[in-house]
Amino acid sequence: MTPLFVDADIRKASTLPSEFYTHPDYFKASAEKIFSKSWHFIGDTDELRLSNSLLPVTLLPGFMDEPILFTRDKEDVIHCLSNVCTHRGNLLVEHPCSEQQQIRCRYHGRRFDLNGKFRHMPEFEDVENFPSEKDHLPSLPWGRWERLLFASIKPASGLDDVFKEMKERVSFLPLREFKPAPSRSRDYLVKANWALYCENYLEGFHIPFIHQSLNNVIDYNSYSTELYPHSSLQLALAKGGEDAFDLPPGSPDYGKPVGAYYFWVFPNMMFNFYPWGLSINIIKPMGPSLTKVSFLTYIHDESRLDSGAGQLLDKVEREDEAVVENVQKGIQSRLYHQGRYSPKRETGTHHFHRLIAHYMNQ
Ligand code: FES
Ligand SMILES: [Fe+2]
Repeated sequence: MTPLFVDADIRKASTLPSEFYTHPDYFKASAEKIFSKSWHFIGDTDELRLSNSLLPVTLLPGFMDEPILFTRDKEDVIHCLSNVCTHRGNLLVEHPCSEQQQIRCRYHGRRFDLNGKFRHMPEFEDVENFPSEKDHLPSLPWGRWERLLFASIKPASGLDDVFKEMKERVSFLPLREFKPAPSRSRDYLVKANWALYCENYLEGFHIPFIHQSLNNVIDYNSYSTELYPHSSLQLALAKGGEDAFDLPPGSPDYGKPVGAYYFWVFPNMMFNFYPWGLSINIIKPMGPSLTKVSFLTYIHDESRLDSGAGQLLDKVEREDEAVVENVQKGIQSRLYHQGRYSPKRETGTHHFHRLIAHYMNQ
């Protein structure tokens, strides 16, 4: 694999080379180099509401395939552990369950406490140096933002650092009162590389060309992008009369008719805040040219669901899918290698490409 280079000066820079999106080597390497060092959205704390409950999760099935296990012990302390038995590697817990005092391996009966500490193993009386530290279940870094749970294998940065700017900017919203709306949540399969999906999301440049109806409710001229170390924000102001946030005087956006906050967190999480609530999009790589996009909906104010920039999610998604799938077909051409950026409209995409190059070259 050739090292990736994206110039820090967007006026001089070229985009990532097309091999990054088409060659299986880059795809495979990104599981370790990018995704094992990033934070992953796990789900809602509601899924782990009871003490003595277990919640198994596979990080990015079909790509990372890392089996992890969230537990809530009898003191209501949450732990994030490896879900692999330290004896001969059996998968410990296959389904969410409650009323569990211990974690018990079904293969040969090894038992662990809910904090991952080795507790008992049958037929091991003569084994030397046993049990040792290696017999406990490894703990993984995890964190929460109000009701949202996250975990990582070996994070390059702490969760608080990664989420800092977003948490501050929308601190006026009572996220803990937002209600999950599974009936409005859905998955989309996109026949394109995960990074093409993200970089499309990261520029509003295509809105007037691809999203006619979205363009009718937001003000394209004032559409802006703010870059942070691990994330970025696209701020869409509502066109006159369209629904906007009721911002408190302490907000840096006070006085502006903000129709949507589009936050992206490297590499694959999108947090779209609308006056009605939150749409979380998780971009899951499945193959060099196959991606699953999961939309998770949280409602804050049901009465505003059908207004403003946030009313068109399904339509906008299908428009994005169609163009991103076309790009996947185009980018594998023998006659295309890379392109250039608009310094005015593509700073978010340039920032994303810089982060990819940084992680991939380590
Ligand atoms: S693999 Fe778990 S007890 Fe043997
Ligand atoms: Fe789009």
